[in-house]
Amino acid sequence: MTRAVLVAVLLTAICLRAQTAPRTALANVSGRTSISLDGTWNTIIDPYEIGLGSHFYENSKPKTKSDLFEFDFEHSPKLHVPGDWNTQRESLLFYEGPIWYQRSFSYYKQPETRAFLYFGAANYFARAWLNGKKLGEHLGGFTPFDFDATDQLIDGDNNVVVEVDNTRHPDGVPGLKTDWWNYGGLTREVRLVEVPQTYIHDYEVQLAKGKVDVVDGWVQLVGARGAAEVSIEIPEVGLKQSAQVDASGRALFRFPAHVQLWSPDNPKLYQVVISSAGDKITDEIGFRTIDTHGSQILLNGKPIFLRGISMHEEAPFRSGRAFSEQDDRTLLSWAKELGCNFIRMAHYPYNEEMLRLADQMGLLVWEEIPVYWDIQWQNPATLENAKSQLRDVISRDHNRAAVALWSMSNETPISPERTEFLKSLAAYARQLDSTRLITSALNHWEQNDSDVRTISDPVGEFLDVLGVNEYMGWYEAKIEDTDHAQWKFSYDKPVIVSEFGAGAQYNLHGDDQTRFTEEYQANVFRHQLAMWQRVPEMAGMSPWVLMDFRSPRRPLPGIQDYFNRKGLISDQGQRKQAFYVLQRFYKDKAALGH
Ligand code: GCU
Repeated sequence: MTRAVLVAVLLTAICLRAQTAPRTALANVSGRTSISLDGTWNTIIDPYEIGLGSHFYENSKPKTKSDLFEFDFEHSPKLHVPGDWNTQRESLLFYEGPIWYQRSFSYYKQPETRAFLYFGAANYFARAWLNGKKLGEHLGGFTPFDFDATDQLIDGDNNVVVEVDNTRHPDGVPGLKTDWWNYGGLTREVRLVEVPQTYIHDYEVQLAKGKVDVVDGWVQLVGARGAAEVSIEIPEVGLKQSAQVDASGRALFRFPAHVQLWSPDNPKLYQVVISSAGDKITDEIGFRTIDTHGSQILLNGKPIFLRGISMHEEAPFRSGRAFSEQDDRTLLSWAKELGCNFIRMAHYPYNEEMLRLADQMGLLVWEEIPVYWDIQWQNPATLENAKSQLRDVISRDHNRAAVALWSMSNETPISPERTEFLKSLAAYARQLDSTRLITSALNHWEQNDSDVRTISDPVGEFLDVLGVNEYMGWYEAKIEDTDHAQWKFSYDKPVIVSEFGAGAQYNLHGDDQTRFTEEYQANVFRHQLAMWQRVPEMAGMSPWVLMDFRSPRRPLPGIQDYFNRKGLISDQGQRKQAFYVLQRFYKDKAALGH
């Protein structure tokens, strides 16, 4: 095979891969023309999934009195979208299975326009139909997806039906076991998004790795014919750059830019305009670099200590999956009140608005995909599922300055298959985004008799930052054992203490050795903070957890009542003693410039 032929084959392969890369959802739908389909939807609970066989998706009606129909959406119970179903109706609190959603909406087709039915998320498996025709299906409960509905839309009344099933599966991501509530439903916004025939699908505008004055980016057009031109503009600094797309519709950019750098103390965002012949999108983007040096994490080239807290996407006060701007702002304001410059969004991608709010409020973010505890490491479908969730979250949030770390997993049992699985995930994340740090929350260490704990987890080799979850004083060891515990690491990498904590029922008081009292929790925090202060590799922490959250694993009556009570704040917004212990610690750290 001559060299020329070989090069031609390789180039075709690269183009084909770019063209055949699995599709991600439209980026930045809030910056596009769209019709919201949020609100009240008709629903049918279908524990035996008869809906497929009974063609619920056609939403047909009896034409004569003799026609046999055993479902009727219009006269069925309603659910609000967005929202999980578990907290909307007492009878659905523990429900796991399929529920069918239906609503109609009027629409008139626009010339030269395509329309996508967009979902912010649906937990866990969803199938969608429009006017009786199947649009597609999606697996994964926490990332956006959309379907091109242009050809199925009709002028006038349109009928959309979505089956959502939150049944857990052993080959799933997550698997069968979690310590959070398996909230089901159309948990985030639903929109009909209009784009021109040739449209901007996605784009990246970030500083080049390790460079504070060079922008690296790309714009992906879909439907481009020939070498269409696209441009990136940052009006505030008088910058406009144009480039032509290649055969796959992608244009690459690299240009000098003198911008204020984004940081928690100065969360500066710039309006960025991405445009092509027929399409234009505006975004708010911050510019910062994130890197490591030995055991330090560098933000814009300078060491930073991550004063953090772990959280769940749980709505304050009403519980359920958080989705509104108010939910998000309450949770992030509590983190700010604690003195945080960092949050760990455990254990799955949160709603996009929360990431944009973190950009605005100056909170660095650890984002994670739900590779949680034990899953089917050897199952290729499970790996593909995890990869697609990773691809979707990176595609959605790769322009968020706040996002500093992509986490591949949480507390996974060490085995060669598991390490191989996580190794390939980490490699995939780097391929999709070479600008951010890759991490995982580890919870395995060797311990010798003199209380030295050594983290040498083989997966550490593939990570930029080691996350460590440990529960001394709660699940293992006595609180006082922290006073002489030492931590060692087989890798010269930054360490984030991604979890430590203790349960406490708000307003339950006693001595500091009595479980579930505020005094016990505060005592654990004091000792844990003192222990980690002695560990030079520690570059940050995100104790477990900001707020009490629902969990099916916590039935203790009168104390837990199916809530994990390790929050520093109760689900009703009441601060526990440990809240002030951590707040004090962070105040002192910040005063020292950390
Ligand atoms: C684990 C886990 C969390 C869980 C917490 C707990 O480490 O990562 O998801 O909620 O510990 O037990 O409270």
